[in-house]
Amino acid sequence: MKKVVISGRSMPAIGIGTWHMGDSNSLRKQEIEAIRTGIENGLQLIDTAEMYGNGKSELLVGEAIKPYNRDQLYIVDKVLPSNASHARLERSLDSSLKKVGVDYFDLYLYHWRGGVTLEETIFELNRMVLKGKIKAWGVSNFDVDDMEELLTVPHGKDCAANEDLYNIGNRGIDFDLIEWQRQHNIPLIAYSPVSQGDSLGKNLTTNEVIMEIAQNHGITPYQVLLAWAIRNPQTIAIPQTSNPKHMLDNVKAANVELTSEDLTLIDKEFPKPRKKKYLEML
Ligand SMILES: NC(=O)c1ccc[n+]([C@@H]2O[C@H](COP(=O)([O-])OP(=O)(O)OC[C@H]3O[C@@H](n4cnc5c(N)ncnc54)[C@H](OP(=O)(O)O)[C@@H]3O)[C@@H](O)[C@H]2O)c1
Repeated sequence: MKKVVISGRSMPAIGIGTWHMGDSNSLRKQEIEAIRTGIENGLQLIDTAEMYGNGKSELLVGEAIKPYNRDQLYIVDKVLPSNASHARLERSLDSSLKKVGVDYFDLYLYHWRGGVTLEETIFELNRMVLKGKIKAWGVSNFDVDDMEELLTVPHGKDCAANEDLYNIGNRGIDFDLIEWQRQHNIPLIAYSPVSQGDSLGKNLTTNEVIMEIAQNHGITPYQVLLAWAIRNPQTIAIPQTSNPKHMLDNVKAANVELTSEDLTLIDKEFPKPRKKKYLEML
């Protein structure tokens, strides 16, 4: 199984996304089973946020992880820009910890940049590390210029990860950010790695090239998308699924090795950007 190291922790290069989970009472049982299927098959990273369902995703994650040893999980939560200040961040964090039912997060992300200065947010994140409420902090929806700026603020170099949109159909960051993060040893958490099950309009899973590669490997098109996203050793992909069978497929994608011929075919069909693109985000 492919692995990635984030904040000193080695874990499978597939994690568990949870956006929109916990919103529907009728799906709850199945969603908990899906998360547990991931954990029982070795996944460690679970990604949630105070924004998701206004806390409903955090509550669902809390329920799903109850039977397991907390230290074997790697729980990621995120603070909204409007709460990323001296006055509000700790209160937000405490509320998220309570909802998930844990006394620390492994990684706490600044969800996207807002009006609070980076200095103030990073000061607070560092303070939370010192208080033991989070083990590490990172950022999300940051581009190269944001990352460069981050490194100039006090403690900015402690950033443990950046979480950005990344899939075969949204590969703008292949132009520069991926390489920048590799050089700075900051792992990428690739969100929406299966293009939200094609709802982003790129029709990746029905693309002929992707379908042919899937057939050659005896896997699904979704697994091709995931194997592509984690083809370098500093990226973890965090697909979301409410379906235990899909979760199992996603776990198995961490074992898929695409060939150089596969990668060339994908590059022809979905070319790597030749110039800078504005960071895409959802
Ligand atoms: N930091 C940020 O700003 C940010 C932004 C967006 C997302 N995220 C994080 O990234 C996670 C993933 O992104 P996402 O939820 O936007 O989209 P995604 O993971 O690309 O796509 C989710 C969709 O794909 C389907 N799917 C997943 N695996 C599948 C499989 N093996 N076979 C068939 N269908 C499959 C799911 O349907 P089924 O339930 O039917 O399987 C679901 O509808 C989020 O849940 C969230 O944790 C972070």
